[in-house]
Amino acid sequence: MDDPLEVLLVEDNPTDARLVRELLRDADPGSRAFRLEHVTRLTHALERLAQGRVDVVLLDLHLPDSNGVETLARIQLKAPDVAVVVHTGLNDDALAIEAVRRGAQDYLTKGEVDGHRLAQVLRHAAARRSVERVRTRAVSLAAHELRGPLTPIQSLLQMLLAGELGTLSDEQRAAAQVVMRNVARMAGLVQDLADAARIQEGTLAMRAQEVPLSALVEEAAASFAEPARQAGLDLRVDVEPGMQAWADPRRTTQAMFNLLSNAVKFTPSPGRISVTADADHGLARIEVRDSGVGLTGEQLAGLFRPFGQVHGTPQEAAAGMGLGLYLSRMLAERQGGRLWAASAGPGQGTTFTLEVPLLAPRAEAPEPEAPEAAPAH
Ligand SMILES: Nc1ncnc2c1ncn2[C@@H]1O[C@H](COP(=O)(O)OP(=O)(O)OP(=O)(O)O)[C@@H](O)[C@H]1O
Ligand SMILES: [Mg+2]
Repeated sequence: MDDPLEVLLVEDNPTDARLVRELLRDADPGSRAFRLEHVTRLTHALERLAQGRVDVVLLDLHLPDSNGVETLARIQLKAPDVAVVVHTGLNDDALAIEAVRRGAQDYLTKGEVDGHRLAQVLRHAAARRSVERVRTRAVSLAAHELRGPLTPIQSLLQMLLAGELGTLSDEQRAAAQVVMRNVARMAGLVQDLADAARIQEGTLAMRAQEVPLSALVEEAAASFAEPARQAGLDLRVDVEPGMQAWADPRRTTQAMFNLLSNAVKFTPSPGRISVTADADHGLARIEVRDSGVGLTGEQLAGLFRPFGQVHGTPQEAAAGMGLGLYLSRMLAERQGGRLWAASAGPGQGTTFTLEVPLLAPRAEAPEPEAPEAAPAH
């Protein structure tokens, strides 16, 4: 017989906790299939998860020290391999579904389960998580293997274009440039796949440091001046100077690039894009606003899911996989920030808001990667 499944119940309500214990005892009287541990705070759950050997977390999202999907995010960050079953109240269906969208394996409504069902859901969640793990590993390996050959292809093309392998005719040069652009696009797609797999495996390292955020935003916007002009769009930039953040500069730029490339992609000419950034209560609020195709409420809800393309792609050359916003949100959240979208409706343009924690004076650097990486403010 298999080892019992280690279940960590995270529940602050003693009545709910007792009920779960009793239900599980009914379903598994000899504790041969399940071993239950119980904690009442998120911080205690995180400490317990750090010790390892938990298969399933049965999680109340409303805890004294954490609330809503944030609770799930913190668990996933600490223990990406663990299965999570969200345990919600009667009127919390929308929250439960949102948790499943964000990677929880299942949910149960309090008071609506018997022991048999509880046992079934816990077993199913653990099995599902291990299948997902294999799938993510396969994507991660494939992305890694695909990246290998791209590096020599790109460097040989660079040598070719630099004339180091002989003089090229105009036609040869034009052909090599087309190949170069397509290889660069392929490298971008492979990189996005690798990043998404790493996020899901919990192995994406963030290298947080002191970042001149105002300059970073200005530079990101400046690199879209030419694409915007070519697309017939008016790009305005208004950034409060001197903002310093504690963030991973490469990942923050990656998120900005995605928001800007989306704005260019989804705004027909003539149109406007504006980039603004201000400090507000210890956070930088960066807005990328466009006058483009806009989004319905339903489309807004699906935007940040992996492969969440809602418009089809207007220009083949700009076609992506729909990972950009998923990655951008994950990257923002992993450095203690947020990313969300708003639109007044189809044809009314879209505004994306990226919040990045600003640097407060502090004695020592926080640990990178943890969500606590946001400086206290
Ligand atoms: N500024 C915008 N205006 C309207 N719709 C947008 C905007 N930005 C994103 N979207 C919608 O959200 C979808 C997801 O965006 P996302 O950046 O994740 O993917 P993508 O740009 O299609 O591909 P990728 O970023 O992977 O290259 C887009 O396909 C589009 O339908
Ligand atoms: Mg995109």
